[in-house]
Parts: sequence; C-alpha cells; structure tokens
Amino acid sequence: MKAVIVKGFGGIDMLSYEESPMPNPGPDEVLIQTAAASVNFADIMARQGRYHGGGQPPFIPGLDVAGTVVKVGEGVQNIKPGQRVAGFVHAGSYAEYCAVKAVLTYPVPDAVDFDSAAAFPTVGVTAYELLTRVTQLRPGESVLVHAAAGGVGLAAVQMAHLLGAKTVIGTVGSAEKARVAVSYGADYAIDYQSGDFADKVLELTGGNGVDVILDSVSGQVFQESMRCLARFGRIAVFGMAGGQPGQFTTDGLHGSCRSVLGYSMGTHRRFRPEVLAEPVRKVLEYLEHGQLRMAIQARFSLKDAGLAQELVENRRSTGKVLLFP
Ligand SMILES: NC(=O)c1ccc[n+]([C@@H]2O[C@H](COP(=O)([O-])OP(=O)(O)OC[C@H]3O[C@@H](n4cnc5c(N)ncnc54)[C@H](OP(=O)(O)O)[C@@H]3O)[C@@H](O)[C@H]2O)c1
Repeated sequence: MKAVIVKGFGGIDMLSYEESPMPNPGPDEVLIQTAAASVNFADIMARQGRYHGGGQPPFIPGLDVAGTVVKVGEGVQNIKPGQRVAGFVHAGSYAEYCAVKAVLTYPVPDAVDFDSAAAFPTVGVTAYELLTRVTQLRPGESVLVHAAAGGVGLAAVQMAHLLGAKTVIGTVGSAEKARVAVSYGADYAIDYQSGDFADKVLELTGGNGVDVILDSVSGQVFQESMRCLARFGRIAVFGMAGGQPGQFTTDGLHGSCRSVLGYSMGTHRRFRPEVLAEPVRKVLEYLEHGQLRMAIQARFSLKDAGLAQELVENRRSTGKVLLFP
C-alpha cells in the first residue's frame, strides 16, 4: 500500500509518500481501507518531535480515519467487514489502509458522509469532552474558546451552544478567522494577537469574566485567560500551540473557587479507550441530525500531505483539512 512516512523529526521535507507494508490486524484490531483521513495539529507536533504521544521515526502519522472495514482480527465481535466506520488510530491514518483497535472503531450512520466521519474524531470528541466531563458546562453559562476558527475551535463553538451556553466568545488570529468563527455561531470573536483580549472579555461579561475557557494555546494566552475567568470558573488546558506553557500560582484559585483542568485525548486513547465510546456516540448523533457541521476547508491527496500540514502549521487553516488516498 501507499503511505506517508515521517522519515525523521523536522519540517515537511521529512514527509515521504512511498510504498509501505500492508498492516495486518492483530487480536482485537480491525483493518480499515481509508476513505479519508484528517490533519490534526498533533500530527505536526509529532513530525517535529514535540507530541507527547508521538512515535519515533520512521512512522506513519495521522490520528483520525474514516473508511470501510476489510478484515477483523481474532476476538473482534462488534465490528464486521463491509461496515462504514471511523476510528482513532494510534499512529498511521495517512495511509491507504490502517489497523485500528476495535474498541476505538465506531460504526458511522448512513447520514454521515466519510468527510465528516474523518474530520470529527479527535476534534469533535475533544470539544465534547472538554465542555461536558472536564469543565461541566451548565446551561446559561458563558464560554471562551481560544483558536476558535480551528478544528477543535469550530466544533467547540457549535457544541457550547448545543449544550446551552448563553454566550460563546472566540479568540482568533485574524479578521478572516473572526468572520468564520461568527459564521459557526460565536457570539463574539476577538483577535487575540493584540494581547489584551481579557479586557474585551471582561467588557463583554459586565466585568465578571467567563465561566468556562478552553485553552489550547497556553503561554501568555493562558495567563491573560486567568484575568477573565469568573469566580467558580473552569479553564481546561489541552494544548500548547503557542509553544510555551502558561504559569499560575495557586493563590489565584482557592479564594475564587476556580479550577485549572487538563485533558488529553491521547492519554484516554491509550489508558481509558472505553471512555470515548459515549462522546463518540453523542457527536455522531449531532452530525446525523445536522446539529453539528464539520467545517472542511481543504482537501488534499495523501501524496500532498506536506502541503496539507503546512496550511495548518502556518495558521492559514480554518476548520479541518482532509487527506484522501
Ligand atoms: N489535548 C487533546 O486531547 C487535544 C485534542 C485535539 C487538539 N488539541 C490541541 O488543540 C489545538 C487545536 O488543534 P486542531 O487540530 O484543531 O488545530 P487548529 O486549531 O485547526 O490549528 C491550530 C491553531 O492554533 C492557533 N495557534 C496559536 N498559536 C499558534 C502558533 N504559534 N502556531 C500555530 N498555531 C497557533 C492557530 O489559530 P489562530 O491563528 O486563530 O491563533 C491555529 O490555527 C492544538 O493546540 C492541539 O494540539 C489537543
């Protein structure tokens, strides 16, 4: 089969499209013929050697796949050959075929096309988990989503409203991205590059701040976020796109009853895969009923995976970028 291989840590010149051995599903795994895969920011970090769950070169990148089951390994009961599925691949969806654990493979309803099925797993489930199990958003609360025009961002903006948020504010890196975030339901979109987004958030919330913040950027953005997190508020930290960690001191938490929470989909995939079944079911239900739209900005063939990654890495993408064999 053909696959994209990360030959060494570094830039997109480290990606090579070449012949690779056909995977064979082991016990409790299924073999999926890829219809579509999607690019996640984690794929770029993995290529750079910065992703905590990434492999050692040479490896096939890619976390999300949608396609058709062609073979099942020993002990697989719930998935059958011929089924349309989506799955979380430990590493390796930039390929014509991939072997996926059955526990991380999910039947896709007929009403959900392969593009949406490839786009939703990592970003859709992360957004849902962050808003429900992690920060426990309650109806009527306000939410601030950083990088709101990105993959997780646009999913989170829509889901926050589905879950009853009263106000959803997004931060973004450009005026065009602000327009995109608003078109997917953000009530306000602020360009956070100027550095003073916290003042604007305080202004929009009558000085109280927001109840929930989803932060995948960290560094200065995290610090500013703590200035506009309301009393009893929850901030979920789930990425470091900015390259630097955020800092805080515990005295900023107890008197105000605020919580700083962490989340990693990769850690769940690895240590608690069964927990992901319920959020996947819920996100697929949103997609099936047209309540959630996966924003697909660009499509590339696998051999152009470098161009696809470059788009995301250089902050020029909105929503999701897909790859096709
Ligand atoms: N913990 C988890 O389980 C988990 C799961 C999925 C994703 N994530 C994290 O969530 C974030 C979003 O993931 P995604 O795949 O949906 O990507 P994405 O949001 O589509 O792309 C990343 C975005 O981050 C923003 N950004 C801020 N500073 C950046 C910088 N220095 N370089 C590049 N981008 C920067 C950019 O938006 P602006 O231009 O608007 O700033 C960019 O578009 C990533 O940080 C990712 O690692 C974590």
